Amino acid sequence: MLKVKWKASLSWEVKISGSKNAALPIIWACLLLKWKIKLKNMPKIKDVETFLDIISEIWVKYSWNKNSLSLDTTNIKNNKLDYKKIKKIRASIFLLSPILHIFGNIKIPFPWWCVIWRRPIDSHLNSLKKIWYNYKYIWDDIEISGKLKSGDKIINSSFSVSATENSIIANVVRKGQTILKNAALEPHVINLIDLLKKAWADIKINYLHEIVINWVEELRSDFSFEVVSDYIEAGTFMIIWALASKEYIDIANARISDLYTFIEKLKEAWVKVKDLWWDVLRVYKCEKIKPINIQTNIFPGFPTDLQSPFAILQTQANGMSRIHEVLFEWRLNFLVELEKMWVNLVLANPHEAIIFWPNNLRKATLTSWDLRAWMAMVIAALITEWKTKITKTEYIYRWYEDFVGKLKALWADIEDTKG
Ligand code: EPU
Repeated sequence: MLKVKWKASLSWEVKISGSKNAALPIIWACLLLKWKIKLKNMPKIKDVETFLDIISEIWVKYSWNKNSLSLDTTNIKNNKLDYKKIKKIRASIFLLSPILHIFGNIKIPFPWWCVIWRRPIDSHLNSLKKIWYNYKYIWDDIEISGKLKSGDKIINSSFSVSATENSIIANVVRKGQTILKNAALEPHVINLIDLLKKAWADIKINYLHEIVINWVEELRSDFSFEVVSDYIEAGTFMIIWALASKEYIDIANARISDLYTFIEKLKEAWVKVKDLWWDVLRVYKCEKIKPINIQTNIFPGFPTDLQSPFAILQTQANGMSRIHEVLFEWRLNFLVELEKMWVNLVLANPHEAIIFWPNNLRKATLTSWDLRAWMAMVIAALITEWKTKITKTEYIYRWYEDFVGKLKALWADIEDTKG
């Protein structure tokens, strides 16, 4: 359980870690390289550890040096992966392409739903079917098998981040040209493409969200590559500073290009943000927040993963604000927790909410199963004068690197009782 108490105000500087959503597909893509690679700026989080544990069973060797992860995929053995371990991670969907490529078959649990949305995987399955992989349902599992065939293909990625990533990995070593239409172009997708291009893959991004992949004889390896910094973590800290800093705070490793729409919304809400160059952003404490409306969208629109942290800023605005969550139909559920803190709000429908003012956040014990909403609870806890308890701390370690440590270094009164 996390205990968070208000303390005068936060100050100094913070450094953003590598992106978790980039890290996981990048590790899997490395399985195709069958050689050595060093991945720098890799976040040390539980999900990465779980992934490494799973691939160590097929003889992938790895070692850490601070945040550099060295992978050796030279001697991958044709063993079966441990299904029980795969079942533990929701991101097992990323396993599809590399494992199909190596072993020709895979069984994963069907991700029917999770806390933020139904989990349709039709785009993944349709894309794989187009390149001649077959799938069948066996109770709650789904088994996919087949052999990659050559030929030019046009595939619809439906703007899905993981379906686009899976298709990139599946087709980069397939003979022929592949055009991914409606491809997701989030910073972590681009980071995956950059890794593969460094390995001599032939990938181009066209306008209209189109990715063109031309087959190359083989991918090279034995190089180092930097995982992009996490724009969602950067955005989260920007909200914390706007609400709880003394004067201003500098956020290092925050790429302004990844955060354009989000920063525009902050500015619209009268939060002052200054670009100090070299990926450092200065965010000033905002004394008076203007109410504004947000609507989530695919990149480069307002990120759904920053919707719940932004809602806390909206609770402090001087008027009525609206949230329109377009992508996921259950992602506003966390607002029920905020009601425990006496936030005035109306959940109009699964996609829309209205937050009224004024809101003097009260004492509460909170929780969430959505990691981003969980972080929103931490922000709410930092700005109330009361002590707040937040349960299910295991989430924070799965997805954020040293978040408690970073907040403590910034003078937050925060304690993990490990209970
Ligand atoms: N969708 C379909 N069919 C599919 C796949 C997706 O209809 O086959 C729909 C979904 O229902 C949703 C939309 O497409 O409405 C977008 O889903 P997407 O597939 O893009 O999500 P994802 O790839 O499963 C990734 C991130 C999420 C992030 C979303 C949107 C990773 C590991 N996860 O999920 O991150 O919210 O993209 O940007 O990259 C988080 O980090 O907290 C998180 C949930």
